Formats: sequence, structure tokens, C-alpha cells
Amino acid sequence: PVLVVDFGAQYAQLIARRVREASVYSEIVPHTITAAEVAAKNPVGIVLSGGPSSVYEPGSPDLDPGILQLGVPVMGICYGFQVMAKQLGGEVARTGRREYGSTPMRVVGDGGVLLAGQPDAQTTWMSHGDSVSQAPEGFDVLASTEDTPVAAFASDERQLYGVQWHPEVKHSEFGQRVLENFLHRAAGIPADWNSGSVITEQVARIREQVGSARVICGLSGGVDSAVAAAIVHEAVGDQLVCVFVDHGLLRADERRQVEEDYVAATGIRLVTVDAREQFLDALAGVTDPESKRKIIGREFIRTFEGAAEALVLEAQGAGEAVRFLVQGTLYPDVVESGGGTGTANIKSHHNVGGLPEDLEFELVEPLRALFKDEVRAIGRELGLPEAIVGRQPFPGPGLGIRIIGEVTLERLDLLREADAIVRAELTAAGLDEEIWQCPVVLLADVRSVGVQGDGRTYGHPIVLRPVSSEDAMTADWTRLPYDVLARISNRITNEVDGVNRVVLDVTSKPPGTIEWE
Ligand code: XMP
Repeated sequence: PVLVVDFGAQYAQLIARRVREASVYSEIVPHTITAAEVAAKNPVGIVLSGGPSSVYEPGSPDLDPGILQLGVPVMGICYGFQVMAKQLGGEVARTGRREYGSTPMRVVGDGGVLLAGQPDAQTTWMSHGDSVSQAPEGFDVLASTEDTPVAAFASDERQLYGVQWHPEVKHSEFGQRVLENFLHRAAGIPADWNSGSVITEQVARIREQVGSARVICGLSGGVDSAVAAAIVHEAVGDQLVCVFVDHGLLRADERRQVEEDYVAATGIRLVTVDAREQFLDALAGVTDPESKRKIIGREFIRTFEGAAEALVLEAQGAGEAVRFLVQGTLYPDVVESGGGTGTANIKSHHNVGGLPEDLEFELVEPLRALFKDEVRAIGRELGLPEAIVGRQPFPGPGLGIRIIGEVTLERLDLLREADAIVRAELTAAGLDEEIWQCPVVLLADVRSVGVQGDGRTYGHPIVLRPVSSEDAMTADWTRLPYDVLARISNRITNEVDGVNRVVLDVTSKPPGTIEWE
């Protein structure tokens, strides 16, 4: 792999993704990693990320100096560039001048392997206080800015490179070219990592892990579990059985997409548990959001557990064992829980999601190394339906937390109709890429007066909650075009019985959450 050394900014994940966009596999490691640990991973290249500190601050994150002596090609970015300069005998100065945001950069000489053939004047994205005032001995200066005489340096002989700006940020005009030049030309790494090679690699790994045992996977209808199951199915075929719980809180057409389109595309063995009545009964009379969430979670585990036990018994009857459970864990979850640090080991035994003690499964997690956009690419490569692969995030408790008030079948049906209209119109307007997700909420306990045809109406409002976001941690409300909003409003009030008003939520997160409950 290419190792991306994380100096504590939010840039490491972005760098890791850009490296992968250059068709090279990358992994994030903490800056505390030792040279021996790096060597053990056998990297073909190393990228040092930016970070929030100054190299002069006491306790600022450092790097084992042995790493630069391993003979592995290294590129430092921003803070990582300054760490390199300092360790290699150059000079880092506290100029007191900050460069922040779009900054003009000039190529020096022919620009070396990183910048050759690019325009002499470029826009780069910078964020730094200290500057490299002198390159280490034997290094060429490749670029400069008004305030930074040494904005990039290189030693082709030692295969060590650095840039002051952030090539991983789209605002850096030739950023991706610079990264690719480092990877392919300076370090000589081939561009051969892609969704096809990931599938081949995972299929082999899963076969080895699972052997002839049986495997269970819970499908939610979302992209992660769908892709994870499809890869496992490629590996072990009908040793895999998928369980899909229909809790009645799904959106229109979701169950059919899983039962028909997904099964047709994969040939997966699917068991659907129809638990709609059970969930409605459990939710009767409940209006408090936290109580709803707890009830839905509890009923879900109970239902999945029941289905899993039945499959275990069935296997035992056939003299076989169900030993594995598939989970669609993604790389960002692994990195955030410390698993990407290179020190924490993947736990092989789990007691997952409240499953009973005597049902111990080993986890199969084929997406553990992947980002969401890569999972989607693999899903497409595997021929999964676009409706599932391109699906926007949808909460586990489903429509149950989008009805403000008691959840009833009538209200669910009404909300499903309104939600289907919103999704269809957003897709038709080509807005799916622009929005992160658009919850549609029914204010079931609110009624307002309206007029329709020749009569007075007294109906419920529907709330549209379109948001733009990178990761759902923060979000802004999406400025949807007025004509799209008008079409949605017209259709909902005309087509959905009991709704006479459509309102738009214009709250960012914070202070609002994305979901209403
Ligand atoms: P909030 O409402 O907290 O939502 O701003 C952030 C993101 O998480 C989704 N969400 C959930 N996803 N189970 C899930 O799998 C849940 O209980 C749940 N609650 C919220 C929400 O749709 C948004 O993408």
C-alpha cells in the first residue's frame, strides 16, 4: 500500500481517497508509527499529511526520523513537508505571515518530476503559518509563492518530495496531477488498483476465512449491506443466506427492490421476515422520539435474532454450522474507532448487536478498507440495481421517526406516497448528486385549514428537509430550485389524500439535526 501518515488534520482521509482515485491502494496510519512498523507494512510509497500544529510548538506531532531513511519514496504535504524539511537539515522559519486559501504559486525551473509540463503560474490552496526558508542540502526547489521561497522541493536521488500547498484539495488547480506524478512517475507505482481488483482480492480472502461454513447477512436495503452480501455471495455462493426484515417502516418499493431486483441481479438466497404487524403493535400509542427509537431497535434485534436462530437450527439439522455474520463496516468507521492506526487489530470475535451469547458469529467485513464512493463503484461492477447502489442514507428506524406523532399504518401509507413523489421529482430534476438526502416528514398531530376544489380542507402538513453534507455530522439546507419545489408541492397536495400544505425546513445542522426525531 501507500501509507498516508495522519498528522491530525481532517486531510488524511481526503489524501487517502485521492491516492485511490489514482488507482493506487492507500491506508491511513498515525504519525506515531515507528520506522519498523512502516517497514513491516512493506509500503510502495508514503504521503505525510498536513496538520494543525506548528513544528515549533512543544509536543507538536513528530515522525520517527528512521522513516525517511527506509528508501521508500515519500511526499510531504504542508505540515508533513515542514517535518521533512526540519528532519533533513533544511530550515523552517516562523515568518509570522499566514497564507490561507487560494494562493498563486510559481514553478521554479522546469518544475522537476512533480510539476514538469504544467503552467508556470498556478493557483494552489494553502493553509500555513510557518514556512520552509531553506531546502535541505541536495534538494531542488520546485516552486515558490510570494511569501514562501521554498513551496516545493525534491530529491530524485533519494525519492523524497514535498509541497507546501494541499494537492488533495480541489481548489489546487493541478493537485491531482501532482499526486499522480509523485505516485506513478517519482515512485514508479503502477495504477492497477480498481473495483475489479478489490473484488478479486476480497473473494479470495473470504473463501479462505469462511471455508465451507455457512454465513448470514442482514440486508437493510441500503448500499453497504447490499454490496457486502454480493461480494460474499461471489465468494461462497449459497453458503450465504440473507435476512431482510420488513418492519413496515420502509419506503415505497424498497421491499420489492430487494426481493426482486437485488435477488435477480445476484441470485442470493433471501429470507424475508414480515414483521409489519409486530412493529405496529409495539409502536401503538407511542409518540416520544426516544421511546420510538428504542422500541424499533429492540423489535429489530428480536426479529433478526429469531431468523438467525432458525437458520442455525436448519443448518444443524443438515449437519452444518453457521459461523459467520456479514457486516458492511466501512473504512471511515474503522479509522474513527482507532482501527486504522496500524496498532489496533481487527477483532475476529464479536457478540454483535445484542445477539444471544450462544450464537457467536465471527464477522466477515469485506468493505472494511473502502470508502463509500468505492463501495458504490464495486456495487455497480457487480451489476447491482442502481436504485440500491445509488441510494441516499436512510435511517434504521425508517419512516417511524419521520412521523411526528403516533405511527399508524394509515399515516405510514400517506408518508410513503409523499416521499415517493419527492424522490421521483428530485431524480427527474437531476438533483440526486447535489443533495445528501431529503427526509420527508409528516406532522401527524398538526392540522391546518385549506381550500381545495370548492371545499374547505383540514389536513396535515408535509415537511421537506433537503440537506447538503459531506458526512452528516454537519449539514446545510439545500437551496432547491423554486420550480422543483413548486412541482413537488403541487403533486403532493393534489395526489396525497389528507395533505393540504407542504413546508420547507431551512435549518442547518447544527442547530437542527437532519432527521426530525
Ligand atoms: P441526524 O438526524 O442525527 O442524522 O442529524 C444524521 C444521519 O444519520 C441518519 N440517522 C440514522 N441512521 N440509524 C441509522 O442507521 C439511525 O437510528 C439514524 N438516525 C439518523 C440520518 O438519516 C442522517 O443521515
